[in-house]
Amino acid sequence: MKIAVMGTGYVGLVTGACLADLDNEVYCVDKEEEKVRMLSQGHIPIYEAGLEALVKKGLDSLRLKFTSDAPMAIRSSEIIFITVGTPTTEEGEADMSAVREVAEEIARNINGYKVIVNKSTVPVGSTKIVEKIIQKRVDGQFEFDVVSNPEFLREGTAVQDFLHPDRIVIGSDNQRAIGILTELYQPIHAPLVITDPSSAEMIKYASNAFLATKVSFINAIANICEAVGADVREVALGMGYDKRIGFEFLKSGPGFGGSCFPKDCRALIDIASKAGYHFHLLEGVMEVNQEQMKLMVEKARRRLGSLKGKKIAIWGLTFKANTDDLRESPALAIASMLREEGAELQVYDPIAMDKARDILKDVIYAADPYQAVEGVELLMLLTDWDDFKWLDFKKVRDLMAQPSIIDARNCLDPLTLRRMGFLYEGVGR
Ligand SMILES: NC(=O)c1ccc[n+]([C@@H]2O[C@H](COP(=O)([O-])OP(=O)(O)OC[C@H]3O[C@@H](n4cnc5c(N)ncnc54)[C@H](O)[C@@H]3O)[C@@H](O)[C@H]2O)c1
Repeated sequence: MKIAVMGTGYVGLVTGACLADLDNEVYCVDKEEEKVRMLSQGHIPIYEAGLEALVKKGLDSLRLKFTSDAPMAIRSSEIIFITVGTPTTEEGEADMSAVREVAEEIARNINGYKVIVNKSTVPVGSTKIVEKIIQKRVDGQFEFDVVSNPEFLREGTAVQDFLHPDRIVIGSDNQRAIGILTELYQPIHAPLVITDPSSAEMIKYASNAFLATKVSFINAIANICEAVGADVREVALGMGYDKRIGFEFLKSGPGFGGSCFPKDCRALIDIASKAGYHFHLLEGVMEVNQEQMKLMVEKARRRLGSLKGKKIAIWGLTFKANTDDLRESPALAIASMLREEGAELQVYDPIAMDKARDILKDVIYAADPYQAVEGVELLMLLTDWDDFKWLDFKKVRDLMAQPSIIDARNCLDPLTLRRMGFLYEGVGR
């Protein structure tokens, strides 16, 4: 099938590359010309396992092309995906301006029947909004259908998630559009949830809000564990065997972040409020999350007293391992709080150092994890990159002014470290 993907970010690039790999002809469109130029040469602007190889394969086969010529891509395609960002506005709503912009662009260039598939995470009712924008200009001249098809991929395992999803949600009232999308996704073996557009849009928000709730729940339990002398990892294990609960998203840590959970929770609180429902539960989830980040700073304060002038190393800046995404990263939030209290930071991340430099100023960017700990009184591990688990901790100890670790991801072995003379503290254990 001939496809245009509007917006070549984390979701759009993965969608385009995977659909090209499934034998479709795909134009990935982005308004950032530099990004398009880079991608056309096979260089991907993000860190995502397996994606560069897939993009190169697509380019070589000529099934995948990158362009900033949106009119051409729209005219040449029968299916148009919308995969632009929907960040939070100052009022806490989902910012629909990029989605509207793309809808206008489609309306200006439609030249025959098209299925317009919205993959961006958008408030309930957005399918209708896109439909209206296009209808207004097209005025019955061309047929088209707008479908909601939320995306559930996770950064770090995005290609795998796209090709082997737990489910595919298609929100449409139109059989023709449902038929075309069912055919498109036919090579991907996953349960299909075919529903109305509003329910499809809600499924995405409800799923992310539920996962965020699990994270805040286990973080709250972790805090109680610390106070009563239990180990949250044992508690999560014992809970996880219950199939109704499951093991996933029961890892306590410094709080959730990233480009989706915080913004989607805020958007759902806003959607609920506009619908006349006060979503106390989700507000609590967000509050626990904020507190959790502050708690990591409190742990540093309990260890060092006043943080003014104290040298602290930070390992990990991204919001989780295996991605370069720094959006709403708890590690960056914690680093900023430490800086505000006067701490001197030496930071290291295996992938995101260059991107971080533009955001986190007045810190020392170390060349490797060992350099980061030179002369520091405390090491805070804030992102669970595997790289940190297998280091030479005797060397780490000897480089530090004081062998003291706060492991905000519970990914190191306390016993081994304590035997080496470290003062170790995790979360909830
Ligand atoms: N990142 C994730 O893990 C993830 C997972 C599931 C769903 N989502 C949702 O998918 C959407 C996209 O997220 P993302 O992380 O890929 O965003 P992103 O910011 O990485 O990418 C968006 C891209 O769209 C481009 N763009 C903006 N306006 C454009 C326009 N008018 N024409 C062409 N290109 C345009 C931008 O230049 C950018 O490259 C969001 O709604 C997000 O909530 C994201």
